Amino acid sequence: MIGIGVGENFVASDVTAILQHTKQVIYMEDGEIAEVFKDHYLTKMIANEEEVNKVVHQIEMTLDEIDKGGYPTFMLKEIMEQPESLKNSIRGRLLMDTGDVKLGGLENVLDHLLYVKRIMIIACGTSWHSALVGKYMFETLLRIPTEVEYASEFRYRNPIVGPGDAVFFISQSGETADTLAALKEAKRRGALCLGICNVVGSSIARESQSGVYVHAGPEIGVASTKAFTSQLVVLALITILLGRRKGMSEAEGIELVSEFKKIPDYAREILKQNSLIEEIAEQFKNATNFLYLGRGYNFPVALEGALKLKEISYIHAEGYPAAEMKHGPIALVDENMPVVFIAPKDATYDKIVSNIEEIKARKGKVIAIATTNDDQIDNLADYSIKIPTTRSILMPILTVIPLQLLAYHIAMKKGLNVDQPRNLAKSVTVE
Ligand code: G6P
Repeated sequence: MIGIGVGENFVASDVTAILQHTKQVIYMEDGEIAEVFKDHYLTKMIANEEEVNKVVHQIEMTLDEIDKGGYPTFMLKEIMEQPESLKNSIRGRLLMDTGDVKLGGLENVLDHLLYVKRIMIIACGTSWHSALVGKYMFETLLRIPTEVEYASEFRYRNPIVGPGDAVFFISQSGETADTLAALKEAKRRGALCLGICNVVGSSIARESQSGVYVHAGPEIGVASTKAFTSQLVVLALITILLGRRKGMSEAEGIELVSEFKKIPDYAREILKQNSLIEEIAEQFKNATNFLYLGRGYNFPVALEGALKLKEISYIHAEGYPAAEMKHGPIALVDENMPVVFIAPKDATYDKIVSNIEEIKARKGKVIAIATTNDDQIDNLADYSIKIPTTRSILMPILTVIPLQLLAYHIAMKKGLNVDQPRNLAKSVTVE
């Protein structure tokens, strides 16, 4: 995009980068080139140098949406504001009386979506982890086969995709080059392409046939936090929307949406444990490896917890499905290995407990994310962080929050720049 200032112009790939200078922008399209000078600019088609007249857009976002709001870092601000960002993602979308969901962006494609034979979800990084949670949601509640792909792999492997498939593209920035290229490829092959983006007006949002905005608000910290939880909100909303048209009863819908409404308050409860999590971080700040384990809906959360730690603290961390630990990771466990278990009281709780016992038997240090009032886990784990319980489809929105805080505090205690970790970028607009 080009930001138009007074006596100065800007070139950027994300609105937040230039917002403090101007709110007037033009979006560049493929095949266009611009010459930008101090006080004017020219936009042309690359192919024939014909001049193009571009529309100037006024950015709605305000500057205080992108200041630290009294927090030492953007990342902490963004973690702490999740009760609000979640509320914003949910606002106006739950129909409490009928146990249903309203998503304006999907209305015109709803009939099509209900009859697709297969769903694909394509993304990169943290957005790929929410895609994986989406697969669990769609397959469990909609019984629609769902495949999750890394955008970079999809675009280079002659994928089997076409009419009859719906493909969701998840991207916080809406600018990730691989995701955008994958979208163009899926569209070329005739699939229904839908965007789940946070940045309004971004390339992926514009290129998609339809979609749902995440509405988490601007995310500045390079490591994604509030956008992830809001992406999960949108995926759960889509699940209920389609579910209610595919046999989910009104009673079930009502129960789900009333639990949904409580999610921002549950997030607030979890954030109250910030100091406990900071104390745990103090104990583990010098660890060189971490293992994150979870099952079902919380397996992608284990991946996300490990990614958060890697990204900002530069500690090696791996996420695994808990039961897979015996096929490799358990060989790494000794008294120096912290293992984070995501262990809410759900259908696989007993299995997780026995996985914890196996780690303890090998002297590993266990940090458990467990459900409030779960005393059994306190006797097993070295540290436990308690969170409220809700319907399993909504649990990942909650279980990830302590993991964001854990990574945050470890990195801060190591004196690192959490908002701009080395070698990483917020919007990856190159391959
Ligand atoms: C970069 C960011 C990550 C993000 C990923 C995908 O690697 O540092 O935080 O998850 O890109 O970005 P997107 O904007 O497409 O969600």
